[in-house]
Amino acid sequence: MKRVDDFRLRFGKQEFVPIITGGMGVDISTAELSLVAARLGGIGHISDAMVPTVSDRRFKTGFVKEKQKKYKYNVASRDKSPVKFDLERLAEATRLHVGRTMEAKRGEGMVFINTMEKLTMGNPRDTLRVRLTAALDAGIDGVTLSAGLHLGSMALIEDHPRFRDVKLGIIVSSLRALILFLRKSARLNRLPDFVIVEGPLAGGHLGFGLDWAQYDLKTIVTEVIEYLKQESLDIPVIAAGGVFTGSDAVEFLESGSAAVQVATRFTVARECGLPENVQQEYFRANESDIEVNLISPTGYPMRMLKNSPAIGSDIRPNCEAYGYLLDGAGNCAYVDAYNRELDLHPNDEKFKVMDKTCLCTHMRNFDCWTCGHYTYRLKDTTRRLADGSYQLLDAEHIFRDYQFSTDHQILLPPE
Ligand SMILES: Cc1cc2nc3c(=O)[nH]c(=O)nc-3n(C[C@H](O)[C@H](O)[C@H](O)COP(=O)(O)O)c2cc1C
Repeated sequence: MKRVDDFRLRFGKQEFVPIITGGMGVDISTAELSLVAARLGGIGHISDAMVPTVSDRRFKTGFVKEKQKKYKYNVASRDKSPVKFDLERLAEATRLHVGRTMEAKRGEGMVFINTMEKLTMGNPRDTLRVRLTAALDAGIDGVTLSAGLHLGSMALIEDHPRFRDVKLGIIVSSLRALILFLRKSARLNRLPDFVIVEGPLAGGHLGFGLDWAQYDLKTIVTEVIEYLKQESLDIPVIAAGGVFTGSDAVEFLESGSAAVQVATRFTVARECGLPENVQQEYFRANESDIEVNLISPTGYPMRMLKNSPAIGSDIRPNCEAYGYLLDGAGNCAYVDAYNRELDLHPNDEKFKVMDKTCLCTHMRNFDCWTCGHYTYRLKDTTRRLADGSYQLLDAEHIFRDYQFSTDHQILLPPE
């Protein structure tokens, strides 16, 4: 019976354990988590979501305070278009986050950064260029383009000296999206080094509509593999979304995937950025406690626990401090929804904003409990303690379980 460890992910002559930990913003997939995957010979992702905010927490820098101070005069204004990121500061924060992570890397594996196009930051093109450039400057091993079609993203860094040596890949949820991306990248004479196919059971934002349940990861992965074969393109395909056991992973590896990307099982690792009380919510969740809704201002459906404090919250938009989802004209769907409710309830101290949420603030505070479909199975991966809580796991234990388990078995942690 095969195990994940019988397979290797190959980039040219380099070989890796075919397990990739997914990029989970905002700092849910911490540097520590990514470093465990790299140490064990796999690939770990950090995320570039809200890096100035993450840097402040990680290194006691003052990026958020500085921005907040600069735009304090605008807090009461409904017009958020003046709020912009200082590009030099953004580069500094990214270099710090990536650089320190890379300095700490040990072992044979790699660390990649997950870069979301939907993080438009009031200036989509320039902020994305700065984030990508700074990550390359700071020595990141690879970049995974996510949350968007990224039709112009590779061109933003085509003059960077590392453009041809850094591993570049994209997350897609359909063959159609991949074909569009490949057409663009062919013009730069630079194909992606890997393609992650993310199915409808993943956590975070989904590349599907509310009809997500009608799609199936295996079908999409097979379509992508067949298309690449037909076009004679030798690009590793990585399956993601709902790969819960080592045996799930083996099924993908045996049918032509080069690796799997996994995330949900690592949300209850000690090295994960979620606070422990939130991790206990993940453990406790039943299937009926999880929903896919449309409250993310990005317009993408998102999967989360129904009891997330972010749902219905009427928090004042915090764009002066954050503003990561403002589009080029300074709009965000939450700002509109909030102002609409404010007008409807002029005399109420509290009200509910049900259709959208202030994702920046709530992700920053770990109050938007985004999760994968199989979160309700996490309780089966550990032990229940005498006080009724669940035992957290070491990331190494979870990684090794994926790597060596058979028969869909999950090894419980030592007591
Ligand atoms: C809590 C959580 C947060 C996530 N955040 C992001 C994100 O910020 N960007 C992204 O591209 N994918 C995100 N994902 C998706 C994962 O990187 C990964 O591809 C997917 O969840 C794998 O499926 P699994 O969770 O069933 O293992 C997130 C997943 C989880 C569980």
